[in-house]
Amino acid sequence: MRKILVVNGPNLSLLGKRQTHIYGFESLQTIIQNLKKIAEKNDLILKDYQSNIEGNIVSFLNDEYLELLSKKNIKTLTNLNMTEHVNIAGIIINPAAYTHTSVAIHDALEVFSQENIPIFEVHLSNIYAREEFRRNSFVSPIATGVISGLGSFGYTVALHRIIELV
Ligand code: DQA
Repeated sequence: MRKILVVNGPNLSLLGKRQTHIYGFESLQTIIQNLKKIAEKNDLILKDYQSNIEGNIVSFLNDEYLELLSKKNIKTLTNLNMTEHVNIAGIIINPAAYTHTSVAIHDALEVFSQENIPIFEVHLSNIYAREEFRRNSFVSPIATGVISGLGSFGYTVALHRIIELV
């Protein structure tokens, strides 16, 4: 079964409590639960990860990439259908503050886009309508799509788009 990765960066563990006028009242747990229900209905496994630490996000992505490569090698060696080798249907990522600073997360994601795995960058708030420093994203140049300002619905939109692309 194919899987979807949902990755969330720093401070998003506080969703529902932190600056609710900007980020809303829904907790990250509720958002993930709702996404999991949609994924299950569409025969997809949703694997979620949240960390406040940049290197941990990079390591999580690296581990997923290594797993992807090993599956790809098995398929090549056994001569099975190459279109099935990619077991990740897509990545949804809200890198939070690391959006604006992290070359490391950009690099960790780039290898997936080179495998034609769709990457959706999601922000609950409209990062373009806030402080100047939030307007730059290191992730957008390698993202398939960017959703900003739709609140938690942005994650749902990204998931539906991945389902459409599968
Ligand atoms: C955010 C926007 C970022 O600028 C900010 O640092 C966050 C959350 C959003 O979801 O709107 O932590 O990614």
